[in-house]
Amino acid sequence: MTRHLLKLQDLSAEEILEILNLADQLKYEKKHGIAHPHLQGKSLGMIFTKSSTRTRVSFEVGMYDLGGQALFLSGRDLQIGRGEPAEDTARVLSRYLDGIMIRTYAQEEVEQLARYGSIPVINGLTDYCHPCQVLTDLMTIREYKGYFKGLKMVYVGDGNNMANSLIVGGIRMGMQVAVACPKSHQPDAALMKWAAENGTFCCTDNIPEAVADADVLYTDVWASMGQEAEAEERRKIFKGYQINREVMAAAKPDAMVLHCLPAHRGEEITADVFEAHATEIFDEAENRLHAQKAVLVKLMA
Ligand code: CP
Ligand code: NVA
Repeated sequence: MTRHLLKLQDLSAEEILEILNLADQLKYEKKHGIAHPHLQGKSLGMIFTKSSTRTRVSFEVGMYDLGGQALFLSGRDLQIGRGEPAEDTARVLSRYLDGIMIRTYAQEEVEQLARYGSIPVINGLTDYCHPCQVLTDLMTIREYKGYFKGLKMVYVGDGNNMANSLIVGGIRMGMQVAVACPKSHQPDAALMKWAAENGTFCCTDNIPEAVADADVLYTDVWASMGQEAEAEERRKIFKGYQINREVMAAAKPDAMVLHCLPAHRGEEITADVFEAHATEIFDEAENRLHAQKAVLVKLMA
């Protein structure tokens, strides 16, 4: 059976740890100039119907580092953008490529590519989730804290794709997860139910309550890709759902701050908190490369 990464729920805790261990090893090898051509001669197609800096560059450089090649396929240029069905695109691309990474709107489109194609499909972000980012975040948390069990991870902001994947990743790794968001913009209801049944989870609109004693603080933009028209209205809805000095004071003194980026200073995070935690945030961005390579090797080698 072809293995995919469509959403984080598809991975067990053991499988996540295997990816993180391999990511650490690939990071070490890269830093020490040790070649790791695990995907020699292989090709990854990267379909983007939304913008990207980190995902595109980390997968493209990652394939190069692994001895393979990556093709950037813009949704605007592909026939899929003119209505060619995903099931046909999947079957055609399976004849040329060894793997597909796709960033798009509907989770269903990613699932369809996996269903109809015969090569691994990797979700590079949908409206529903962002599993590659959260694998990277887990790698970064372990790098800084050394362990997961019992750590409290708090997400402040929109209950969006990032919130959904962080809930799954955090609970799988045995962290306590709290989400502070407005009642109208909570994460996926089924995921929250699963989290409450499988670990320590809470979702509240009370920010100080959520943030108390946090070890890891996380936030993301108030308006995600595709929600640009709602940006003004969202600024009103999310006002206050911000990581700032006051919020940091309620967290543990050694709490780390993560952000998937891009960041909007003055909205979900203040400039001073962002800069005070820039080392963690840019280590996190760097780790996209190492974590994505680990996913590629696990699925395509
Ligand atoms: N965090 C993240 O996925 O960044 P990009 O949108 O730049 O790929
Ligand atoms: N929630 C954001 C994440 C960007 C990496 C978005 O979907 O635009």
